[in-house]
Amino acid sequence: MTTLKTILLFAFLLIVSPLIANASDPDILTDFIIPQNLTLPMINGSFFTFSGMRILFDDNGPVPDSFTAYKASASEFPALLGQSVSFAVLIFPSETVNPPHTHPRSAELLFLINGMLDVGFVDTANNLYTQTLEPGDMFVFPKGLVHFQNCKGKEPAIAMSAFGSASAGTVSIPKTVFGSGIDDEVIAKSLKTDAATVQKIKAALPPPPKKIDVRL
Ligand SMILES: *[C@@H]1O[C@H](CO)[C@@H](O)[C@H](O)[C@H]1NC(C)=O
Ligand SMILES: *[C@@H]1O[C@H](CO)[C@@H](O)[C@H](O)[C@H]1NC(C)=O
Repeated sequence: MTTLKTILLFAFLLIVSPLIANASDPDILTDFIIPQNLTLPMINGSFFTFSGMRILFDDNGPVPDSFTAYKASASEFPALLGQSVSFAVLIFPSETVNPPHTHPRSAELLFLINGMLDVGFVDTANNLYTQTLEPGDMFVFPKGLVHFQNCKGKEPAIAMSAFGSASAGTVSIPKTVFGSGIDDEVIAKSLKTDAATVQKIKAALPPPPKKIDVRL
């Protein structure tokens, strides 16, 4: 009996330990990752520089009229691969919302620098946590939980978000449920409604948030 318990304990530890070790992006065995189409002599300071956010400081740059996320993750900024960090600047024109979504691979640490922003997330026990942020406030959305941000004020809200993954990923709830091609019947049954209502929601689905995809 004791032997069996010991074996089970070891089996458990064997299964669980890699999960604990991989709680964030996997560790890399080099200082940084060089993309396949580059070689070390081609790497200089420019490789570690992302200029895609300069647009935010350009007086003649575009002024977003809907919620816009300016992202610097591994796909826009390849030097982040293997470094377990990424970043986004979020612009909320007056009365716009970033609809409920999750980042499956990272928590999000949001820092508000302008305007007022209502934020909230829902935990796995379905408890809702909300707050109204003022400039200078920071809010953490725990990893993988559904969350949203809502700018109710007249003034645009501007926030910066840091992530503990080079590729935090975004799963938008409206887009996933209504914009991925799941059969109307499945959605209608799940929400205890009819296919016509589901189609109505699908037709009104907002366009996906814009993102600036700049490659070095
Ligand atoms: C850095 O490398 C890039 C491409 O490999 C090159 O275009 C650029 O001129 C280099 N910059 C400097 C300062 O050497
Ligand atoms: C390397 O590939 C990326 C896309 O994966 C591209 O944006 C970049 O311009 C390429 N660099 C060179 C030097 O070919």
